[in-house]
Amino acid sequence: MRRILSGNRPTGKLHIGHLFGVLQNWKRLQYEYESFFEVADWHALTTNYKKTDELQQNIVDMVIDWLVVGIDPEQATIFVQSDVKEHAELHLLFSMIVTVSRLLRNPTLKEYIKEVSPTELTTTKRKSFDKFAARVIDIFMDEFEGIERRENFIEWKSILKQKLKEVFLKEMKEHGLEEEEELTYGHLVSYGYLGYPVLQASDILVYRASHVPIGADQLPHLEITREIARRFNHLYGEVFPIPEPILTEFAKVPGIDGRKMSKSYGNTILISEDPETLKEKVMSSYTDPQKIRKNDPGHPEGCPIFAYHKIFHSESADEAEINCKKGLLGCVEHKKFVAEKMIEFLEPYRAKRSELEQDRNKVVEILKEGAQKARVEAEKTLELVREHMKLWG
Ligand code: TRP
Repeated sequence: MRRILSGNRPTGKLHIGHLFGVLQNWKRLQYEYESFFEVADWHALTTNYKKTDELQQNIVDMVIDWLVVGIDPEQATIFVQSDVKEHAELHLLFSMIVTVSRLLRNPTLKEYIKEVSPTELTTTKRKSFDKFAARVIDIFMDEFEGIERRENFIEWKSILKQKLKEVFLKEMKEHGLEEEEELTYGHLVSYGYLGYPVLQASDILVYRASHVPIGADQLPHLEITREIARRFNHLYGEVFPIPEPILTEFAKVPGIDGRKMSKSYGNTILISEDPETLKEKVMSSYTDPQKIRKNDPGHPEGCPIFAYHKIFHSESADEAEINCKKGLLGCVEHKKFVAEKMIEFLEPYRAKRSELEQDRNKVVEILKEGAQKARVEAEKTLELVREHMKLWG
């Protein structure tokens, strides 16, 4: 039986980038595979462990969007990761057979460190060097007192040099600035975050999924999953299939500023955006900077409005392209048209959301039922795992 597992960290209400990237893919796949879709709430904790007060609400808000766009709980098993404790048990067992250096080589970890390190690093470095400078002065002054009495000035210089080197290395060490590039930033990353891909491996392998729908950014994690599966099978006998990716097509939906649509850029349009806000966002959107007046010729290629036009009303996009290039279609007029089409397109989703919003408990019920189904499958795998590893019980 071909089986998929995929997941998303609970970021709250989803945007139209998710809709045309991840969700439409899942929606299609749920009819072709036995499907498991999880809310990866433990994964969210790996970086957001301090701020947890919106976690529960974000879970329900995200799942409402899944349901709204047609992920069907009759077709697919929809559940929250932390409702299925078997993920945690498998994560623990896998953590024994994966090395720290393998996890340090994970490119997403490296990117994360690059993102969070600049400020941290400069303060640590500055503190370290301030202290270093103070010590240098102390040593110098001590030595200076006796300088007249020194006969061999050259020898004195080399002693000073040696001492400075010793102090410097000691200071570096004390501030976690050792030479090894990877361990240098260890203080910025929690033990849990280091294990992010191990947890993801357990999400996938606890269901013995054969396929994993993901974006290309997640391929390094799937590679670690495959290595863990192979290593387990080699050590204890065949339990796990080696899962294959099903790549999500590169998202064609730019944000309203023309960059990639992303919550962290503040350039999103939500699936459930209310018509007023949607219109405001579209009207204030970035457009071709060379098209200042209505009849200047435009360049639809990099224009987000044109991208939305193709997605939300493809039948009239060719005409708009020609007219924009000829200077017959002004940006304001074009934006008004596209905003209307987007509102029309998203209307059924918005209606479905307000229906589900009335009964958030029903969503919680769906997730509880999903977790029950998921647990049955996960427990089967854990029994096999314990048996193959010759564990207690
Ligand atoms: N790491 C994934 C992301 O950030 C989310 C995720 C968690 C996932 N577990 C998974 C994706 C298992 C696929 C399979 O998008």
